[in-house]
Formats: sequence, C-alpha cells, structure tokens
Amino acid sequence: MSNPSKISIRNLNFYYRDKQAIKNLNLDIPANKIFALFGPAGSGTTTFLRALTRLSDLDPSARIEGEILLDGKNIYDADVSVTDLRRKIGIVFEEPTALPMSIFDNVAYGLRISGINDMKILKGKVEEALRLTTLWEEVKDRLSLPALRLSGGQQQRLCIARTLAMSPEVIVLDRPTAALDPISSLKIEDTLESLKSQFTIIIVPHSIQQAGRISDRAGFMLMGDLIEAGPTAELFTNPKDQKTSDYITGRFG
Ligand SMILES: Nc1ncnc2c1ncn2[C@@H]1O[C@H](COP(=O)(O)OP(=O)(O)O)[C@@H](O)[C@H]1O
Ligand SMILES: [Mg+2]
Repeated sequence: MSNPSKISIRNLNFYYRDKQAIKNLNLDIPANKIFALFGPAGSGTTTFLRALTRLSDLDPSARIEGEILLDGKNIYDADVSVTDLRRKIGIVFEEPTALPMSIFDNVAYGLRISGINDMKILKGKVEEALRLTTLWEEVKDRLSLPALRLSGGQQQRLCIARTLAMSPEVIVLDRPTAALDPISSLKIEDTLESLKSQFTIIIVPHSIQQAGRISDRAGFMLMGDLIEAGPTAELFTNPKDQKTSDYITGRFG
C-alpha cells in the first residue's frame, strides 16, 4: 500500500465506570489527509480524541481495551512515553486556550517546557508556526502583546500554531470552530487544508457541512458505535447504512 495507515484502531472499547462510550471500534486513518469523525452529541467523539491523546489517563473512571497503533506501535504500550506521545499528537480544543501571556510566549510555551531556551531557535520556530496558520502577517509587529487581546478566531489559530511549534505528526481538533464566526471558521478550515500535506489531521467537525467541506475521509459515530467510515464523498452521496443516511439528511440529531 502506498499510503499506509498513520493510525490504526483495533477493537477499541472505552468505559467510564459501567458506561461504555466506545464500542469495539476498528478504524484506519491514513497520513496526510483530513479525517472527520462526526455524530450527534454523546456519540463518543470527544472520548475518541481523549483515547488518542491519552488524556483519559488522568481520569480514574476511564478504562480502555484494545489498541491504538501509531505507525504500527500501540500508544498504550508500557514503554511509550506520554510526553513524547503528546508532542507527536497535538490537540486543539473547542474553546481557544490562549494563555495569559504574550503572543510570542504562547507559541513558544511547549518548546520552553521541553527545554528549548535559545532565543534564536525559539524565534525561528515561532515564526514558522505562525506562518503555517497565516497568523504571521497579522501579528508580526505585536508579538509581545497579550494573546488574549486577539480575536477568538486569531486565538484559535494561535493555539494551532502552539501545537505546530512542537513539530507534531498528527493534529487532533475537537470542534475547533464551534465558538467562532463563519469567516474565522473558514480561515481555520483553509489553514487545515494547507497543513494536511505535512500532517495527519483528525477533526470532530462542528457540523456535517464542515465535514463535507474539509475532510477526505469521514466516519459517522452514533452512541459509541462507528456506523461506517470511508471516503467523504462516498459517505455523503452513497452511505452504506440507513442510519448514516438519516443523520446526513437531517432526519435526526
Ligand atoms: N468523564 C465522563 N464520565 C462519565 N461519562 C462520560 C464522561 N465523558 C463523557 N461521558 C459520556 O460518554 C458518552 C460520550 O461522550 P462524549 O465522548 O463527550 O461524546 P461527544 O463528544 O460525541 O458528544 C456520553 O454518553 C457522555 O455522557
Ligand atoms: Mg464532544
């Protein structure tokens, strides 16, 4: 296969105590594409992203069975460093999480935590990350100003830049435009399109329309079950399952 899976999910079950939030999920996600996982509220999409980034490690009620392979290696293996994993798989949340510090320091944040303090290196990486999110031209003259003065859309691109500064392999986004106006949302969508040649992108879109606009492949989740997954155009025009068809045509959800 010329484009092997970047991520392979094998028999993934996810429980919060007795409640099963993901049911025997099997899924392959190729590199350098945008994969959208969508479904009505409570389907398990956020839980899926938590499992991928091992954020649920911190939740004592969470229990996971099965495997999540990143380049063939199970991220839950005992010898996997979570710090390393979080650098390889960056996450962006629904609400922009700009920190109360300057624009520059926001983007340099993770780099500094990982021990990089050389100002020349930091400047280079910050500029590169800001350029990738097309924020550079908008902020290059005011890098020392508080990031919280930026608009919501700019803050969200700043958060993407902070993730990109760490040179991740996979970028995971949970409804990143849900809190934004349509113009800012389109800027984020354009940014993601331009990033996919270099990264693997997994997004929980804020609408079915957004999934249709930006994803190459998509999956429909319903109450913990992955109903189907495949090329987005096929899923939308010729779904295999009646439930997918009902959801896409707005008959429920
Ligand atoms: N921390 C938690 N503890 C217990 N149940 C949870 C927790 N987080 C989510 N759930 C439940 O798991 C299911 C999936 O939730 P979630 O992954 O947030 O869905 P989505 O993001 O698709 O709306 C829901 O029924 C939700 O109530
Ligand atoms: Mg969610």
